[in-house]
Amino acid sequence: MLELRNISYEVSDNGKKELILNNINLTIEDGKLLVFTGPNGGGKTTLAKIIMGLVTPTSGRIIFDGVDVTDMDITERARLGISYGFQQPPRFKGIKVKDLISIASGKKLLSKKEACSYLTAVGLCANDYINRDVDTSLSGGEVKRIEIATILARGAKLMILDEPEAGIDLWSFTKLTETFREVHEKTESTMIIISHQERIIRLADEVIIVGGGNIQKSGAAEEILPEILSGTTGACPIMK
Ligand SMILES: Nc1ncnc2c1ncn2[C@@H]1O[C@H](COP(=O)(O)OP(=O)(O)O)[C@@H](O)[C@H]1O
Ligand SMILES: [Mg+2]
Repeated sequence: MLELRNISYEVSDNGKKELILNNINLTIEDGKLLVFTGPNGGGKTTLAKIIMGLVTPTSGRIIFDGVDVTDMDITERARLGISYGFQQPPRFKGIKVKDLISIASGKKLLSKKEACSYLTAVGLCANDYINRDVDTSLSGGEVKRIEIATILARGAKLMILDEPEAGIDLWSFTKLTETFREVHEKTESTMIIISHQERIIRLADEVIIVGGGNIQKSGAAEEILPEILSGTTGACPIMK
């Protein structure tokens, strides 16, 4: 179980303080698939990075399986089973796709068949990619999918995926959505997916709308989707 208790994050911009997240409280039960959605700049990525340990909250605590992880770094949290996929993943010069997937899986020698299965799951033709370098010769969408493949290979207890749809063609996106559904059904993993896509929102056990640094609303997909589609949520706040 993941608990966020009174999480706030404030930055100081040229001496002017800006509240990015405002007292977020959230409990996520094991095995649930949650989708964070809401307007750009609402605070979703910051919240995900706070859970992963890439950003330190100004106040509040993060409790994972009863352990206070607030002061732990990304490596320590990864060891406890928290895994994060960047909105814009980094590239690794000199590392091949198959190495990256093997490292993630924790096995020194991952069979080619197994490594390929993760690539297929994210809509990549495995034979074309398995021996490629994860460098600038790959497109943004390809790097993104390779990173999602590594997260699947890691099989973490808590997977956080930030806009997995970004830069991905429709065919692969359909495949990816199906993969998330399968992972959710077949494993005990808890998944947090940040997404604007209806198809992904429909997979959620719970949808959380993050806007203006707050949880604006949460509920079942059937309840939240009509509001999102009709444009009644995520409206631009009135300037103060
Ligand atoms: N370190 C920072 N310094 C200043 N502003 C930041 C910082 N981190 C995030 N922000 C701002 O916080 C807001 C929320 O950003 P983000 O979490 O990326 O939103 P989302 O992922 O929902 O689009 C944005 O307005 C962003 O510019
Ligand atoms: Mg974001």
